[in-house]
Amino acid sequence: MKTWRVLLLGFGTVGQGVAERLRDGATELAAGGLDARIVGVIDPALGSIASAEGLDPGQLLDLANRSGSLRDYPGATLAGSGADAIEAIDADVVFEMTPTNLVDGGPGLQHVRTALGLGRHVATTNKGPVALAWSELAELARANDVQLRCEGTVMSGTPLLNVCDGGLAGAGVYGVRGILNGTCNFVLSRMEAGVDYDEALAEAQELGYAETDPSGDVEGWDAAAKVAILGNLVLGGALTLSDVSREGIVGIGKGDVRSAARQGTRLRLVGSVRAVDGTVVEPKVGVEELSLDDPLAAVCGPANLLTFETEALGPVSIAGPGAGRAATGHALIADLLTIHRQVGS
Ligand code: HSE
Repeated sequence: MKTWRVLLLGFGTVGQGVAERLRDGATELAAGGLDARIVGVIDPALGSIASAEGLDPGQLLDLANRSGSLRDYPGATLAGSGADAIEAIDADVVFEMTPTNLVDGGPGLQHVRTALGLGRHVATTNKGPVALAWSELAELARANDVQLRCEGTVMSGTPLLNVCDGGLAGAGVYGVRGILNGTCNFVLSRMEAGVDYDEALAEAQELGYAETDPSGDVEGWDAAAKVAILGNLVLGGALTLSDVSREGIVGIGKGDVRSAARQGTRLRLVGSVRAVDGTVVEPKVGVEELSLDDPLAAVCGPANLLTFETEALGPVSIAGPGAGRAATGHALIADLLTIHRQVGS
């Protein structure tokens, strides 16, 4: 059985979700013919540690939750941060799970560049690097003969991007359209139930759906990043975030939602992008007034749904969680299994 040495960049919600999956779901990896050993964790708040023998995910979780520091892990060495630590810790794959920064990619972009340049496979849930610099990073991965996988950047661990390499390969996908931001969908759904916008947004924050700065959700930035990612990874484009036409739900009130209901329609924030003759066109995010027989109109609360338009199968839709600790943690495990299958043992 192949043992993959994994370096975790970030041990917040997503990193801890991965550790929980490794602690509780080890048999699923074994069934896939692999074992994962955490050889390092780098986190600005909890500290950075390394061990070539491996760090036990349960112990990491205990330390993070009990003492708020990983530095007391018995037998581990203290590690640095950023590029130096990525270079110093001998890993086969880097899980990049630092918070998304859609302005300049933040430290995550440099982490991905460094790891790929060192010949490490990368799996990331960070939308910044993928939405802002996909072409550069994909080329870097190719040049270094390693994989860059991003399942968790869109709809968390709900399988979408890996499905395109698998069951949808050869189906001729020429478009995608979906509800890609759980926070906005939750807010619109709550307003349908009579709750005010501000209160609904506060609930979404309380429930952990919203980004740290929720303007990223309600102004449409998060969904736009996901459209850019889908345009690139599913349709072969070279989009960046600024190519996506963007509108959020700011300014939509209960009156608008009620008026739509009176017409027998629903308001939803919809993201879409298409390919025409091999060119990716019309990447956009906006509020649409949908008739109730549109499958997207039936999506309520924080759920997400994406429809692939395909030549061979017609529309194929996948619905599932778009956020959450366990669901996003699973995305990294799914990416590791895909890397294992594609690269071999
Ligand atoms: N804030 C995002 C959402 C989280 O509401 O969908 C997942 O990207």
